[in-house]
Amino acid sequence: MKKHIAVFVSGSGSNFQSIIDGVNNKEINAEIMLCVASKAGTLGEQRAIDNGIATTVMDKSLGLENEFGRVAEMLTRLNVDYIILAGFLTILPFSFVRKFKNKIINIHPSLIPKFSGDGFYGMRVHEAVITAGETESGCTVHFVDEGIDTGDIIDKAIVAVLPSDTPETLQQRVLKEEHRLLPKVVKMLCD
Ligand code: GRF
Repeated sequence: MKKHIAVFVSGSGSNFQSIIDGVNNKEINAEIMLCVASKAGTLGEQRAIDNGIATTVMDKSLGLENEFGRVAEMLTRLNVDYIILAGFLTILPFSFVRKFKNKIINIHPSLIPKFSGDGFYGMRVHEAVITAGETESGCTVHFVDEGIDTGDIIDKAIVAVLPSDTPETLQQRVLKEEHRLLPKVVKMLCD
């Protein structure tokens, strides 16, 4: 039986694309029931539209609790087994996290617990890794709990930091690994 999954996006959705590809080539035994976009007009939302995936755009003017309540109802109606945060930048309300305990996963572009938590997102992560003189970075997929990047770790991938790296070149190599790691974990969960 195919699992029902939902993917939450905020930006370009390249990680979302890696899941779409995994589902389309039957690597991942799931159906993408819904894409939740934190704002309108992102490439992530466009990828859902292009692939005929039902999409809802969040309206934060209604209040986060209300809006996540609306999304939670949709997810429940669609019998969603797993929620994948693929570059979703809005912090989830506790009520939402508790409702879907052990069903929400996130990908973070560092080796958690390093360079994770409040304020570590996007390019800031890679800038901090280089400033700290790290020789290794990578990405981590973890369950989402009430903290920021604190839930149980499912899998990690390591990427070497090269002496010539800028935050941008490091981000590109980490992102490439994310596109391998995230569908691998989603496949594992759905199997
Ligand atoms: C990724 O680096 C992800 O780890 C982070 O946000 C970025 C999203 O990229 N949480 P994309 O939208 O999947 O292209």
